[in-house]
Amino acid sequence: MVYPAWIMNMRRKTLNFFNRHSVPRWTVFLVDASVVFFAFIVAYVLRFNFDLPEDREHIFIYQALIATAVYAGFGLVFKSYSGLLRHTTLTDITLVFVVTTCSVIVLVILSSLNQWLRWVAILAIPQSILLIHYVAVSLFLFFGRILIKLIFLFATGTVRNKKRVLIYGAGELGFVVKRVVLSDPRYGFHVSGFIDDDRSLQGKKINGINVYGPSILSPEFIEKNKIESLIIAIKSLSVDRKSSIIRSSVNLGLEVLDTPEVDKWVAGQLRMPQFKRVDLEDLLGRKPIKLNIGLIKKGLEDKTILITGAAGSIGSEIARQMTSFQCDRVLLVDQAETPLFYIQNELREKFLDIRFQILPADVTNASRMEQIFSEHGPDIVFHAAAYKHVSLMEENPHEAIRVNVGGTKVMTDLAIKYEVEKFVMISTDKSVNPSSVMGASKRLCEKVVQASARKEGHNTQFIITRFGNVIGSNGSVIPIFSRQIENGGPVTVTHPEVYRYFMTIPEACQLVLEAGFMGQGGEIFVFDMGQQVKIADLARAMIKLSGFIPDKDIQIVYTGLRPGEKLYEELLTDSEKTIPTHHEKIKIAQVEEIDGEIVLEHIDWLLRDLYTLCSCEVVQAIKDLIPEYQTTNGKFREVHSKSHK
Ligand SMILES: NC(=O)c1ccc[n+]([C@@H]2O[C@H](COP(=O)([O-])OP(=O)(O)OC[C@H]3O[C@@H](n4cnc5c(N)ncnc54)[C@H](O)[C@@H]3O)[C@@H](O)[C@H]2O)c1
Repeated sequence: MVYPAWIMNMRRKTLNFFNRHSVPRWTVFLVDASVVFFAFIVAYVLRFNFDLPEDREHIFIYQALIATAVYAGFGLVFKSYSGLLRHTTLTDITLVFVVTTCSVIVLVILSSLNQWLRWVAILAIPQSILLIHYVAVSLFLFFGRILIKLIFLFATGTVRNKKRVLIYGAGELGFVVKRVVLSDPRYGFHVSGFIDDDRSLQGKKINGINVYGPSILSPEFIEKNKIESLIIAIKSLSVDRKSSIIRSSVNLGLEVLDTPEVDKWVAGQLRMPQFKRVDLEDLLGRKPIKLNIGLIKKGLEDKTILITGAAGSIGSEIARQMTSFQCDRVLLVDQAETPLFYIQNELREKFLDIRFQILPADVTNASRMEQIFSEHGPDIVFHAAAYKHVSLMEENPHEAIRVNVGGTKVMTDLAIKYEVEKFVMISTDKSVNPSSVMGASKRLCEKVVQASARKEGHNTQFIITRFGNVIGSNGSVIPIFSRQIENGGPVTVTHPEVYRYFMTIPEACQLVLEAGFMGQGGEIFVFDMGQQVKIADLARAMIKLSGFIPDKDIQIVYTGLRPGEKLYEELLTDSEKTIPTHHEKIKIAQVEEIDGEIVLEHIDWLLRDLYTLCSCEVVQAIKDLIPEYQTTNGKFREVHSKSHK
């Protein structure tokens, strides 16, 4: 409908007014009380046909004040003034009704008692006046509120360019979401329909809004109805179903919002800013992990935990997860000072009761690490400190060996010397049939841990956990893609056929804890990472989630495989098999036997003479220890081809 310019202008001004002002509760209370007072005077004057008897002239004002006090008292008890007038609901109207009815009943009783017992003249309020007053006050208070709501609807109801939204879920939650979405004009949503899987609801209308089946999530319907967003509003939706709805919506170019769980609503109320834009984790649809909490709790109780690499993605998440358990102390070791400072601040802000201690230290510095072990006597060690970037380590093999292998050697030796109960090393799928210096260095770390487990005369349990990429870790593809999308592209992918496993950081760390406490020592635990994800598809999904069209708004550019990079990662070598554990997502890799003494001897030699060797000699030394280490690209190809001859 086309309105004249002056109406549109008035509407804009009213809307601006409502956006800037909301009437304070005490003002509503005073206005309600004034309405009661003046309605009483009007009722009096009407009852006596504008001709007050002389004996009433002095007392009717006092009686109006008494009536006002009774109404105000019930108003305070039932808080009938507390609802936002512009959003008046049936509940607010009911409260007004309760207040006026209780008040009139009390006033009628008072006046009857007074008539009977002849207390004071001031209480002799004619009951006809009380009844006229009751009707007048109720009408004023009801219609006053409804009028304000109507003015508000007039101002907001037909604002153009509304964002058309579908609500997935036509149940109770969908209804609440609809109310919240429509009540906040700043977001300018128009609900174009509900979608529900329940066939008995499909084809019906809720509050005049159509309920559709999921099949309407089609390009034709979305385009015809100019739908821009979809809000998920179902309480118990399986992870698979949810990620499938998100995938189809994102593919249709819709912005997808998720309704937070009821326990996360602020003070029991859902508000627009609480709706969360779905992210990649929702899209990948990872199922929540079930943990054997009892076992982990018992294992960590009253223990001193040392975490290396504690300022990194994995180490810091393990530290966060420690806050759910009754550990005695948590020692955070890392060489990166500023990230340590940040994690210290975060943990201090969020968890006041846990005893965290920050220890800047380099795990390759044996003296410093010995100082920490002797001073703090850790019971359990999570070793996550490492250099992990494939391309950087490819250029600097000495550093991969010094930090990853050297650090692990220092830590395992100290664990045995200081009688640590449990040593859990974080490894990676890149250590399996490694094609990079980084992956090979991590396989060497695994061998150091395996060899330490086989040493005689100690009770330390050495456990290895091996898994693939975690979503959003420092320097991983996801934060890199996000930045590239923010900058308008292009998004760079090395090869169209590169696939990777993905897990969330909390998920991986939960499995590290679970595996840590199911192990007896010497095992390599491999996590079930689900299906490998094509990195090019991931890039596409991230572009769509950000509201852009891949290859149109934002280009995807292929840059070629980097040295040491594989198309696929594996979780097991060809000779390794797995044995299941009681946890469906954790398997034990049956690894080939190693001669621990020879491995450790060779590694000691490599670490001692490291900087007398050139890069190719370092790579050759690694290859001597890990025959399956192969690379088809990069500058070390010659070393590999020589070893074949
Ligand atoms: N991120 C992943 O996707 C992933 C997946 C599987 C396994 N892993 C493994 O988990 C481990 C940690 O990975 P991340 O993603 O947390 O890496 P990250 O780079 O975020 O963290 C590593 C931390 O180790 C610290 N560190 C490095 N050298 C150190 C030294 N000499 N002394 C003390 N601290 C040192 C770094 O400062 C950093 O804070 C790595 O071994 C990695 O291979 C990571």
